[in-house]
Amino acid sequence: MQLLDGKFVSEKLKQEIAAEAAAILEATGRKPHLVAILVGHDGGSETYVASKMKNCEKVGFKSTLFRYEETVTEAELLNKIEEINKDEDVDGLIVQLPLPKHIDPEKVTEKIDHRKDVDGFHPVNLGRMMRNLPCFVPATPYGILMMLEEYKIDTAGKHCVVIGRSNIVGSPMSILMARNTYPGNCTVTLTHSKTRNLKEIVGSADIIVAAIGRKQFVTADMVKEGAIVIDVGMNREESAVTKSGYKLYGDVDFDNVAPKTSWITPVPGGVGLMTIVGLLKNTLASAKKTIY
Ligand code: GUN
Repeated sequence: MQLLDGKFVSEKLKQEIAAEAAAILEATGRKPHLVAILVGHDGGSETYVASKMKNCEKVGFKSTLFRYEETVTEAELLNKIEEINKDEDVDGLIVQLPLPKHIDPEKVTEKIDHRKDVDGFHPVNLGRMMRNLPCFVPATPYGILMMLEEYKIDTAGKHCVVIGRSNIVGSPMSILMARNTYPGNCTVTLTHSKTRNLKEIVGSADIIVAAIGRKQFVTADMVKEGAIVIDVGMNREESAVTKSGYKLYGDVDFDNVAPKTSWITPVPGGVGLMTIVGLLKNTLASAKKTIY
């Protein structure tokens, strides 16, 4: 078993991003600029957004955070997005999800100018991704692709089973792994909570992408000897003994599954760190205008 080390790969890629940001600053006098909107006080969202902002500073980007209370109206939020869309000093705009129930996430996502949609959630970016055209690829799948590439994992012809069909991870991941470019060329099965014979399907996988959002859902008896396991899980559990007050669990029962695998991502220290790199890469691409 070998680790797909998110800490190592993300640090290496962030150094490359920082060098490019420095060159942009030198040439243009400005830094790539990411704006984030955070509504409410969800613990997970607070942590993720803080990490995104901190990493922007680390690589020499400008970052701006707009915070709103849970009570913000949909109209107020849409107006703010409009304002940021028009601001020429902004390269990327993300609205952290989930949003309160009275706000339609589809309206919010579609309001963001697709040329600033560094989360890659806008229908234009998703449509372009389907057709293998230049676009912003959603950050988590993008981060996973970069990880596979870094370790030169051979994916062609492999059976990739994605567990979970979210708009953010599972669905785009299934499209990307089936594309006829590297890393891709997989035969993909997209599974979810209604899938019958899940255990047999996962058991036939050469590559497993676990993105179902359930603690230690993938157990050793489900995994074929020598499989590659990508764990997207970020399941927070309150803990009295950790400094942060919570402990993070993946969607994979790491201790029992790892010995059966050829490669596996740890949690923490795996995909989560690569997601940030995906977001930074998209913001850099927006600043360089390489996509739009
Ligand atoms: N919520 C969970 N993951 C994400 C993400 O990648 N982007 C945004 N905006 N919200 C999220």
